Amino acid sequence: MKTALVTGGAGLLGGYLARALSAGGFAVHLTAHRTPVSVAGCPSIGLDLTDRRTVEAAVEDVSPAVIVHTAAITDVDHCQTHRDEAWRVNVCGTQYLSRAAASAGAFFIYVSTDHVFDGATGNYRETDRPAPANWYGLTKLVGELAASRCLPEADIAIVRTSFYGPRRDGRGFFGRCLAALGAGQGLEAADDLFSSPLPVTVLAKAMVELAGRRLAGIHHIAGADRSSRYEFALAVAKVYGLDASLVRPRPAKDLNLPGPRPRDVSLCVRQAQERLRVRLPTLVNGLEEMAVSGTVTEGTVTEGTVTEGAATEGAGDGAGR
Ligand SMILES: NC(=O)c1ccc[n+]([C@@H]2O[C@H](COP(=O)([O-])OP(=O)(O)OC[C@H]3O[C@@H](n4cnc5c(N)ncnc54)[C@H](OP(=O)(O)O)[C@@H]3O)[C@@H](O)[C@H]2O)c1
Repeated sequence: MKTALVTGGAGLLGGYLARALSAGGFAVHLTAHRTPVSVAGCPSIGLDLTDRRTVEAAVEDVSPAVIVHTAAITDVDHCQTHRDEAWRVNVCGTQYLSRAAASAGAFFIYVSTDHVFDGATGNYRETDRPAPANWYGLTKLVGELAASRCLPEADIAIVRTSFYGPRRDGRGFFGRCLAALGAGQGLEAADDLFSSPLPVTVLAKAMVELAGRRLAGIHHIAGADRSSRYEFALAVAKVYGLDASLVRPRPAKDLNLPGPRPRDVSLCVRQAQERLRVRLPTLVNGLEEMAVSGTVTEGTVTEGTVTEGAATEGAGDGAGR
C-alpha cells in the first residue's frame, strides 16, 4: 500500500482528501497544526510549516510516496494585512516541504488557486500568464515557483482550483448561503465577481486520480462553468429548496470587501477533462452532488440581512471565498 502525507488535515480540503485517498487505497497520514485533526484510520503528526525542522521530521517519519500540500493561510484578507506571516507559511513552508519531498523521492501535489490570475479576462488556461491581484494570490504563485524549483518536473503537480464545501467553523460563502437562506434571511451577493467553483468532494476524487497516476504538470481543476457569486447563491437556493427571492445582487464595491478581489478568475478545465477520468460538473450538477455526498454543518448567522463579508478564498470559497 502506498503512503500519502496530506498537510492541513484540519482544513476543508485536507479532511475530504484524507477520506478519498484512504478509499483509493492509500495509507494516509495527516499533519496537524493548531486545530486537532481526527479522521478515522488516518494518524496525524504535528507540523508547523514555518519550522523547517518539524517539516523535515514529518516527511522523514512518514516516508511518503506522495505528499499533498493543502495547508496554507487561505484567508484573503488576513494575508493582505499579515503579509510576513502569509509569506512564511505559504512560500517558505512550501519550500521546506518541497525540498523534503525531493529528498524523499515523493510525488508532490501543490494545491494552488485561481487567485494567481488578475481576473481581467477569466476562462484561464494552464498556459496563461499569472498576475495575482492580492497578496494571498502572490504567495500561492511564489509557492508554485518554489516547489517547481525544488522538484524534478516529473515529480510535481500543481492544482489550481476553486472549491466549496461545508466548513465546521461556518467560514466560506457556501456555508453562509445555506445559513442565511435556511434562516429566512436576506443575502446580498456580488454579481460582478466570477469563478468556477467545484464541490470539494469532486476535487478530492480528482486529486486521488492525480496521486494514483502521478500526473505531473499544471492542472486547472474547477467547475465546468463560470458563475457570479450572485448566481452561485441562487443555485444554492434552488438545489437546497430555499427561497431564492432572499438573494439580492450587489456590485462588489458596495459590499465593503476588505481586500482586493479579482473580477473573473474562472478557469478553463478543458485540459483537465482530457487528462482526467473524473468528470468536472457544472455549478448546478456540482451542488446536487454536494447535497447528496457532502455533510452540511450548521453555520451561525446574525439577525437581518447577511452581506458577503470577508473570510476564506472564494464562492468556491471563489464562490466559497
Ligand atoms: N478554499 C478555497 O476555495 C480555495 C480555493 C482555491 C485554492 N485553495 C487552496 O486549497 C488549499 C486548501 O484550502 P482549504 O480551504 O481547505 O484550507 P483551510 O480550510 O483554510 O485549512 C488550511 C489548513 O492549513 C493549516 N495551516 C495553516 N497554517 C499552518 C502552518 N503554519 N503550519 C501547518 N499548517 C498550517 C491549518 O491548520 P490550523 O487550522 O490548525 O492552523 C488548516 O488545517 C489551500 O492551499 C488554499 O490555498 C482554496
